[in-house]
Amino acid sequence: MDLVEVQFEPVGRIVLVAPGTTLLAASRAAGVEITTGCTRGMCGTDAVKVAADADGLQPAADPERSTLERMGLDPAFRLSCSARVHRGVVRVQLGAF
Ligand code: FES
Repeated sequence: MDLVEVQFEPVGRIVLVAPGTTLLAASRAAGVEITTGCTRGMCGTDAVKVAADADGLQPAADPERSTLERMGLDPAFRLSCSARVHRGVVRVQLGAF
């Protein structure tokens, strides 16, 4: 199984995680703090801006998708408790929300 590289900016931490890992779990593995609320894709507290390879993340599913729609965020944002990595390299910009 190929691991996925997750980079956290601007702190400059990098972690390798298994496909299917949430960005929140990756952040904890990297020792990076992301403020959370519900951890179920409902509240939007943990929105982060993400740049990834085309299939770097699994597509957003409900409830994450509907929460992002309700928040009216740019499509580059995902909810870290719900967004799961898929392959390649994923870059997470902290503090952009
Ligand atoms: S912590 Fe509430 S949406 Fe992720």
